[in-house]
Amino acid sequence: MITIERPALPAELVERLDAAVASGPDAVGAALQPFLGRPGLLTPEQEAGDPDRFRTHLLHVPDDGAYSLVAAVWRPGQRTAVHDHVAWCVVGVHRGEEHEIRYRMDGDHLVEDGHTVGPCGTVSVLIPPGDIHAVVNDSATVAASLHVYGADLRDRGTSIRRCYRLPVRAAG
Ligand SMILES: [Fe+2]
Repeated sequence: MITIERPALPAELVERLDAAVASGPDAVGAALQPFLGRPGLLTPEQEAGDPDRFRTHLLHVPDDGAYSLVAAVWRPGQRTAVHDHVAWCVVGVHRGEEHEIRYRMDGDHLVEDGHTVGPCGTVSVLIPPGDIHAVVNDSATVAASLHVYGADLRDRGTSIRRCYRLPVRAAG
Protein backbone atom coordinates (compact mmCIF):
# COMPACT_ATOMS: atom_id res chain seq x y z
CA MET A 1 0.00 0.00 0.00
CA ILE A 2 1.25 3.48 -0.82
CA THR A 3 0.60 6.20 1.72
CA ILE A 4 0.55 9.72 0.35
CA GLU A 5 1.80 12.00 3.09
CA ARG A 6 0.85 15.23 1.43
CA PRO A 7 -0.92 16.29 -1.73
CA ALA A 8 1.39 17.32 -4.55
CA LEU A 9 2.04 21.03 -4.51
CA PRO A 10 0.47 22.80 -7.48
CA ALA A 11 3.02 22.83 -10.34
CA GLU A 12 2.04 26.44 -10.93
CA LEU A 13 3.17 27.45 -7.43
CA VAL A 14 6.56 25.77 -7.86
CA GLU A 15 7.01 27.28 -11.35
CA ARG A 16 6.21 30.76 -10.05
CA LEU A 17 8.58 30.45 -7.12
CA ASP A 18 11.34 29.07 -9.38
CA ALA A 19 10.94 32.07 -11.69
CA ALA A 20 10.71 34.68 -8.93
CA VAL A 21 13.55 33.66 -6.61
CA ALA A 22 16.34 35.27 -8.65
CA SER A 23 14.51 38.61 -8.39
CA GLY A 24 14.48 38.52 -4.59
CA PRO A 25 12.00 38.29 -1.74
CA ASP A 26 9.46 40.88 -2.92
CA ALA A 27 9.00 38.98 -6.18
CA VAL A 28 8.71 35.72 -4.23
CA GLY A 29 6.00 37.28 -2.07
CA ALA A 30 4.03 38.31 -5.15
CA ALA A 31 4.35 34.76 -6.53
CA LEU A 32 3.22 33.17 -3.26
CA GLN A 33 0.30 35.47 -2.44
CA PRO A 34 -2.37 34.07 -4.86
CA PHE A 35 -1.99 30.59 -3.32
CA LEU A 36 -2.57 31.62 0.31
CA GLY A 37 -5.73 30.13 1.75
CA ARG A 38 -6.13 27.73 -1.16
CA PRO A 39 -7.37 24.30 0.00
CA GLY A 40 -5.11 21.28 -0.45
CA LEU A 41 -1.69 22.89 0.01
CA LEU A 42 -1.38 21.11 3.35
CA THR A 43 -2.75 17.75 4.43
CA PRO A 44 -5.59 17.80 6.98
CA GLU A 45 -3.13 16.31 9.48
CA GLN A 46 -0.63 19.12 8.89
CA GLU A 47 -3.34 21.76 9.15
CA ALA A 48 -4.53 20.34 12.46
CA GLY A 49 -1.22 21.18 14.10
CA ASP A 50 0.57 19.34 16.89
CA PRO A 51 -0.86 19.31 20.44
CA ASP A 52 2.62 19.65 21.96
CA ARG A 53 4.29 22.46 20.02
CA PHE A 54 4.20 24.61 16.94
CA ARG A 55 5.28 22.54 13.92
CA THR A 56 7.07 23.15 10.64
CA HIS A 57 6.92 21.00 7.50
CA LEU A 58 9.45 21.28 4.68
CA LEU A 59 7.26 21.19 1.56
CA HIS A 60 9.63 21.81 -1.33
CA VAL A 61 13.25 22.61 -2.25
CA PRO A 62 14.21 22.89 -5.94
CA ASP A 63 17.13 20.78 -7.18
CA ASP A 64 19.48 23.77 -7.14
CA GLY A 65 18.58 24.60 -3.53
CA ALA A 66 17.76 28.24 -4.35
CA TYR A 67 14.94 28.37 -1.80
CA SER A 68 12.96 26.30 0.69
CA LEU A 69 9.16 26.31 1.03
CA VAL A 70 8.07 25.54 4.60
CA ALA A 71 4.66 25.41 6.29
CA ALA A 72 4.38 26.44 9.93
CA VAL A 73 1.33 25.56 12.04
CA TRP A 74 0.38 26.94 15.48
CA ARG A 75 -2.47 25.69 17.61
CA PRO A 76 -4.10 28.31 19.88
CA GLY A 77 -1.63 29.46 22.55
CA GLN A 78 1.48 28.09 20.80
CA ARG A 79 4.47 30.30 20.00
CA THR A 80 7.98 30.24 18.62
CA ALA A 81 11.07 31.17 20.59
CA VAL A 82 12.47 34.65 19.96
CA HIS A 83 14.76 34.04 16.98
CA ASP A 84 16.31 35.34 13.77
CA HIS A 85 17.07 33.70 10.43
CA VAL A 86 20.03 32.68 8.28
CA ALA A 87 18.52 34.15 5.12
CA TRP A 88 15.68 36.35 3.90
CA CYS A 89 12.24 34.99 4.60
CA VAL A 90 8.87 35.62 2.96
CA VAL A 91 5.90 34.84 5.21
CA GLY A 92 2.40 34.36 3.80
CA VAL A 93 -0.51 33.76 6.16
CA HIS A 94 -2.46 30.69 4.99
CA ARG A 95 -4.97 29.98 7.79
CA GLY A 96 -6.16 32.04 10.74
CA GLU A 97 -4.12 34.98 11.99
CA GLU A 98 -0.40 35.29 12.57
CA HIS A 99 0.72 37.52 15.43
CA GLU A 100 4.32 38.62 15.02
CA ILE A 101 6.31 40.48 17.68
CA ARG A 102 9.51 42.16 16.53
CA TYR A 103 12.44 42.97 18.83
CA ARG A 104 15.71 44.86 18.68
CA MET A 105 18.85 44.26 20.69
CA ASP A 106 19.80 46.94 23.24
CA GLY A 107 22.94 45.94 25.07
CA ASP A 108 22.22 42.84 27.14
CA HIS A 109 18.45 42.80 26.60
CA LEU A 110 15.72 43.01 23.98
CA VAL A 111 13.26 45.82 23.38
CA GLU A 112 9.86 45.13 21.79
CA ASP A 113 9.82 46.97 18.48
CA GLY A 114 6.43 46.34 16.93
CA HIS A 115 3.54 43.89 16.85
CA THR A 116 1.67 42.99 13.68
CA VAL A 117 -1.40 40.82 13.16
CA GLY A 118 -1.67 39.29 9.73
CA PRO A 119 -4.93 37.77 8.48
CA CYS A 120 -5.02 35.12 5.74
CA GLY A 121 -3.43 36.44 2.55
CA THR A 122 -0.98 38.79 4.29
CA VAL A 123 2.60 38.66 2.97
CA SER A 124 5.58 40.07 4.85
CA VAL A 125 9.32 40.00 4.23
CA LEU A 126 12.07 39.62 6.81
CA ILE A 127 15.64 40.47 5.83
CA PRO A 128 18.56 39.82 8.21
CA PRO A 129 20.22 41.36 10.11
CA GLY A 130 17.71 42.95 12.45
CA ASP A 131 14.99 40.33 11.93
CA ILE A 132 14.63 39.24 15.57
CA HIS A 133 11.03 38.17 16.17
CA ALA A 134 8.62 35.66 17.66
CA VAL A 135 5.30 34.40 16.36
CA VAL A 136 2.44 33.81 18.78
CA ASN A 137 -1.00 32.38 18.12
CA ASP A 138 -3.19 34.36 20.54
CA SER A 139 -6.37 33.41 18.71
CA ALA A 140 -8.86 30.60 19.31
CA THR A 141 -8.19 28.84 15.98
CA VAL A 142 -5.24 27.14 14.28
CA ALA A 143 -2.88 29.50 12.43
CA ALA A 144 -0.76 28.35 9.51
CA SER A 145 1.64 30.20 7.24
CA LEU A 146 3.77 29.38 4.23
CA HIS A 147 7.38 30.53 4.45
CA VAL A 148 9.90 30.82 1.64
CA TYR A 149 13.54 31.08 2.77
CA GLY A 150 16.42 32.09 0.54
CA ALA A 151 18.42 29.06 1.65
CA ASP A 152 18.58 25.29 1.15
CA LEU A 153 17.26 23.81 4.39
CA ARG A 154 17.46 20.14 3.38
CA ASP A 155 20.66 19.49 5.35
CA ARG A 156 20.45 22.29 7.89
CA GLY A 157 16.86 21.39 8.77
CA THR A 158 16.02 24.83 10.15
CA SER A 159 16.11 28.43 9.02
CA ILE A 160 16.83 29.69 12.52
CA ARG A 161 20.19 31.37 13.02
CA ARG A 162 19.92 31.96 16.74
CA CYS A 163 17.37 31.90 19.58
CA TYR A 164 17.45 34.82 22.04
CA ARG A 165 16.78 33.97 25.67
CA LEU A 166 17.25 37.48 26.98
CA PRO A 167 15.16 39.77 29.19
CA VAL A 168 12.67 41.97 27.36
CA ARG A 169 12.37 45.56 28.55
CA ALA A 170 9.98 48.30 27.56
CA ALA A 171 11.24 50.83 25.03
CA GLY A 172 12.71 54.10 26.40
FE1 LIG B 1 10.83 33.39 12.04
